[in-house]
Amino acid sequence: MTRDSSHRPAPAQTWNAALYDRSHSFVYKAAADMLELLNPQPGEQIIDLGCGTGHLTAMIADRGARVLGLDQSAEMIAAARKQFPKLAFELADATSFTVPEPQDAIFSNAVLHWVHPPGAAVEAISRALRPGGRFVTEFGGKGCMARTIAALNTALGEPDLGRRPWFFPSIAEYAPLLEEHGFEVRFATLFDRPTPLEEGKHGLRNWLTMFGEYYLARLDAAERERIFQEVEKGLHDELWREDRWVADYRRIRLVAVKL
Ligand code: BEZ
Repeated sequence: MTRDSSHRPAPAQTWNAALYDRSHSFVYKAAADMLELLNPQPGEQIIDLGCGTGHLTAMIADRGARVLGLDQSAEMIAAARKQFPKLAFELADATSFTVPEPQDAIFSNAVLHWVHPPGAAVEAISRALRPGGRFVTEFGGKGCMARTIAALNTALGEPDLGRRPWFFPSIAEYAPLLEEHGFEVRFATLFDRPTPLEEGKHGLRNWLTMFGEYYLARLDAAERERIFQEVEKGLHDELWREDRWVADYRRIRLVAVKL
């Protein structure tokens, strides 16, 4: 199938909280060490931006911080409130959220690659922090899922024109954005994070179903099946390990302080 995708509007990603918690718990489990970087202190006021189903929000609260989870998906917020009824969660957009009081820290895991335009999110984050407040984040970095995206484009019969539903920056792209918005970057790293997917041979197609709506939304069930099979075949040698798929994630991780 060949399609000119040059004018394709990006379908909005929708979120399935049950599928996320059942098959994609690696997203928040892999981020537990991010908490050490955040180092939440008792009584600190912290926002978990893009809190999803609230697992990391709860870990921050366990350290004694007063934490508010924000997410732009009503389904995720409903699931978070249900699982953690004592914690505060609100629907909000990362590019425009405001808070009544300046925050001590903003934490964001596996979210900012979804947010456009990235500068608007950095501006909102900067506005929400007190001077000296910290921004601690990790998300998809330059080269993330490159092999998977290439296999997907090949299966779809589309040239890779560099369009992505995601923003995967290098440090050289992201650090200036932070500096422009009044931050000092204290720590930045870009690293490979091969990520074992759950549910064995279904792992890759589950990942594509959960995160790949941009590519798959307009396909019917038979077309999707064909795409899944072609992508699986194309990636088998590179990304299949013994009994599971291992996603070719790359991560950018940063700590910045508001001046
Ligand atoms: C990530 O967490 O790195 C990621 C998640 C979904 C799509 C792309 C990247």
